[in-house]
Amino acid sequence: MSLASASSSLLRSCARQQVPAARAALASCQQQRGVADASSKATFASPFDNSTTKIPNFGKYASSKSPRSNQVFSYFVAGAMGLGSAVGAKATVQDFLVNMSASADVLAQAKVEIALDSIPEGKNVIIKWRGKPVFIRHRTSGEIDEARATNWESLRDPQSDEDRVQKPEWLVMLGVCTHLGCVPIGEAGDFGGWFCPCHGSHYDISGRIRKGPAPLNLEVPAYNFPTEETLVIG
Ligand code: FES
Repeated sequence: MSLASASSSLLRSCARQQVPAARAALASCQQQRGVADASSKATFASPFDNSTTKIPNFGKYASSKSPRSNQVFSYFVAGAMGLGSAVGAKATVQDFLVNMSASADVLAQAKVEIALDSIPEGKNVIIKWRGKPVFIRHRTSGEIDEARATNWESLRDPQSDEDRVQKPEWLVMLGVCTHLGCVPIGEAGDFGGWFCPCHGSHYDISGRIRKGPAPLNLEVPAYNFPTEETLVIG
């Protein structure tokens, strides 16, 4: 017998001897799988009849308390979170509004009160209001007549003197040139009112532009007379 045929017959006899052992091992595996299947069926429970879907059984996590007590707890948590969110939103909005509102020094400048008896007739006073100069002129009767005698319809920015003052003797306007924002000089210029030296604008005794590059009359701010002797600007 050759060496090759001897080895082949040896392998065949070994394989024949191993078959029963392999069958026994397979049977054992199948048995174990059956046990596992049975235990997994115990772990997975489907609430639906004939369902092939395996749904994990979360029974061990289920609350042991009554449904009413669980509802009370859920409502309490939801309510507390809602309340906390509302308080946070209110604080945020409040902080935002406080930051955006005018500071105390700005509010203090919002209105300025002037005692008129301190301004003699024929004199100018310049005060600061909201960071800008304001001209207050106590006009004489001659100045009032001059302002009202002007043919205002032909002016560059047509406006009657009556529309620019509340009381004829008190002229109140912003001291900011309407050309490029310089502060005009009082009692100067070709029309006896104000003159802006920056580029040569002339305003009359009513603050209307009469000559030079400025396009508009001097602006009249909001003001009123709470008493006969008091002027409030703003
Ligand atoms: S800024 Fe007054 S004339 Fe130019």
